[in-house]
Amino acid sequence: MTDTIRPLTASRPAAPLRGAIQVPGDKSISHRALMFGAMAVGETTIEGLLEGEDVLRTASAMRALGAIVIQDGPGRWRVSGRGVGGLAEPADVLDMGNSGTAARLLAGVLASHGFFSVLTGDASLRGRPMRRVTDPLAMSGARFWSREGGRLPLAIQGALEPMPLEYVLPVASAQVKSAVLLCGLNARGITIVTEPAATRDHSENMLRHFGAVVEVTPTEDGAGRIIRLTGQPELMAARIDVPADPSSAAFPMVAALLVPGSDVTLLGVGLNPLRTGLLKTLREMGADIETLRERTEGGEPVGDLRVRHSMLRATEVPVSRAPSMIDEYPVLAVAAACAAGTTRMRGLHELRVKESDRLAATAALLSTNGVAVEIVDDDLIVHGVGAPPGGGLVATHMDHRLAMSALVLGLVSNDPVRVDDTAFIETSFPGFTTLLAGLVGGASPFR
Ligand code: S3P
Repeated sequence: MTDTIRPLTASRPAAPLRGAIQVPGDKSISHRALMFGAMAVGETTIEGLLEGEDVLRTASAMRALGAIVIQDGPGRWRVSGRGVGGLAEPADVLDMGNSGTAARLLAGVLASHGFFSVLTGDASLRGRPMRRVTDPLAMSGARFWSREGGRLPLAIQGALEPMPLEYVLPVASAQVKSAVLLCGLNARGITIVTEPAATRDHSENMLRHFGAVVEVTPTEDGAGRIIRLTGQPELMAARIDVPADPSSAAFPMVAALLVPGSDVTLLGVGLNPLRTGLLKTLREMGADIETLRERTEGGEPVGDLRVRHSMLRATEVPVSRAPSMIDEYPVLAVAAACAAGTTRMRGLHELRVKESDRLAATAALLSTNGVAVEIVDDDLIVHGVGAPPGGGLVATHMDHRLAMSALVLGLVSNDPVRVDDTAFIETSFPGFTTLLAGLVGGASPFR
């Protein structure tokens, strides 16, 4: 699907956004459900799986590794696993498309299986750094061959008897943490990962849900966590309910805050505290977002979010908040463009290695539409203008979140915003434009 280029233009809608919608399932949890299910004994059932291209790549990879992965209905999947250490050598290269999470987590799985495999991806993924996972994983005894700079394609000879790892993450990355834990699953002994700042803990939660022993303690300074996983557990198949993805909910949320008269309820959104940095930031900016029907589903906190149009004011986002909203900066920058005053988002160096250089691309997204922005060191500074002029053509660089952010900007700009390619939205949020257009009723603001 991402082979075809799909340009699109977004304009001010004729009416406010109103209604209740459920955005697709959480991408991080969906990848993990398929991977852990494939390594469990018995049949795992998944409800609400994200059927975006990224996750479908993981489903194919787990099939290629010998698990039985079946779709029963929309969002409803079954995985018959092969037990920890029981995956089989794939007969072909594993193509992870656009997905960094799929590639990096799978590298952890493959490092601890004593066979040969090759990972590749699309042009965006082939440009992303993989040494952040191969460096620690090599200490398990696995061997890696990659292109210059540790880029994909990556060939892996997994360790026959993997050693448990003890690793201090140099960057706060849930992908690297999860890769090390996945490798540790098939190592005898205790794998210990220390993260300098707490990152999304879906791997830890789900491993426990499948019966593994995972202990988590705070680091001495209280900012990070030490995770201890006892290797070679018998993972038992489980049922997984995937909540709606807070990173996807971010787009209709910001759209509803910015389009005058809007009142939108986002149903069943995942509210894991390590994912709610955007919510906190928007509320600091004066956003009217009410949390309703808070509950726990499948071990994760979930709630409905009622979002009403609000006059936003600028804020300063501390670097310590980055891990809990790492994917939300492009759309926050759009909100900041419409706020009163100057917003500063601190410490965004990790954005440079996402699906695109998201720091540069977010700044360009705004500046081509008449909004003044600066990048100072790793900080993004947005000078809010109330109503952005618009009229620009946004380059999305194969990045789904830039495409959706640009479309949201078009809903509130004086002149329409053109987007060079929206095809990559399919990786994380299939049906995005249809769902948003449905909130407007009448003519779609996208054409
Ligand atoms: C993810 C972790 C984050 C995030 C990505 C999903 C995960 O990446 O940006 O979209 O599922 O573990 P990093 O680990 O590189 O911060």
